[in-house]
Amino acid sequence: MKSLDRFPRVSLGIFPTPIQKLENISRLLHTNVYVKRDDLTGLGLGGNKVRKLEFLLAEAREQGAEIVFTTGGAQSNHAMLTAAAVGKLGMKAILLLKKRGVTECLGNQLLERLMGTELHFVDTDDYADIYAEMDRIGAELGRPYYKIPCGGSNALGTLGYVDCAREIAGQGMRFDHIVCAEGSGGTMAGLALGAKLFLPGTAVHGMMVDTDPFDRITPALMREAAALLGVSPAITPEDYRLHDMCGPGYAIPSREGSAAVSLMAEREGLFLDPVYTGKAFAGLLQLAESGAFRAQDRVLFLHSGGAGGLFAVKMQSDAEQARPLPGE
Ligand SMILES: Cc1ncc(COP(=O)(O)O)c(C=O)c1O
Repeated sequence: MKSLDRFPRVSLGIFPTPIQKLENISRLLHTNVYVKRDDLTGLGLGGNKVRKLEFLLAEAREQGAEIVFTTGGAQSNHAMLTAAAVGKLGMKAILLLKKRGVTECLGNQLLERLMGTELHFVDTDDYADIYAEMDRIGAELGRPYYKIPCGGSNALGTLGYVDCAREIAGQGMRFDHIVCAEGSGGTMAGLALGAKLFLPGTAVHGMMVDTDPFDRITPALMREAAALLGVSPAITPEDYRLHDMCGPGYAIPSREGSAAVSLMAEREGLFLDPVYTGKAFAGLLQLAESGAFRAQDRVLFLHSGGAGGLFAVKMQSDAEQARPLPGE
């Protein structure tokens, strides 16, 4: 297997991120719940994209890019963090954001304004149109450019979370379950592949917050990332456990997700977001309620960031109070 250390990488974040026990949540759920603090990755407001960008922007640099394009929803955390990283590395970011969602200068868009990022709003849901528009703008500018797909979720970006699994293994604890949000797929696919390689016996759960066909996307990304590493492990659905936590739609808060955001804030002083991590944590709570975790289990929740969105997307107001849980 090719070592992850042999891939070109730019240094953007602070790693390893801490793993902490959530004492109050553990008591509530009668199991041992830990959090991997990828909200503290050290760039911008932190978040999962920093790990992917370390690999992707190294490739951009190697290719001599002066401009980096990426895309996402109107409040994309990925797009905001890409702009932050690209500026730090002395290149220019151009973001093509979908018009759907909160397009006011709030949340991540406020941060983009602070960074002076060039934003274009595109009135389509079809990424093929968006990538074609990047090529059009790039050709017009006549400068070398690099395109990062939505969420940074290609094989190279996925390596960022294979590396996170390796990091967890190096932190000296073993976990029975890891739970993360799945929005474009790279984080979940990277953790699932990484668990196969570095954390045998750990079940990885992806809480789907969008309606894309993740049952195809996740194993495909796992295989493509494995190919970059020169390995081809057998991949079965047991390796990537998917759960639908999308609720009323992508970036539309769900009742469970908003309640989970409140619960984590109230009991642990940690802030989740209504689009990704709140829905993912609600999925963890549902797994606990369904009896999926034993009292002696160790469950690791990936806090993948998302603070920017918390200040833009309105939560479900009737769920802002923590929902009492069974056993309380
Ligand atoms: C805060 C946060 N958590 C989780 C995710 C999901 O990660 P992925 O897109 O790799 O599935 C995202 C994606 O944008 C995100 O912004």
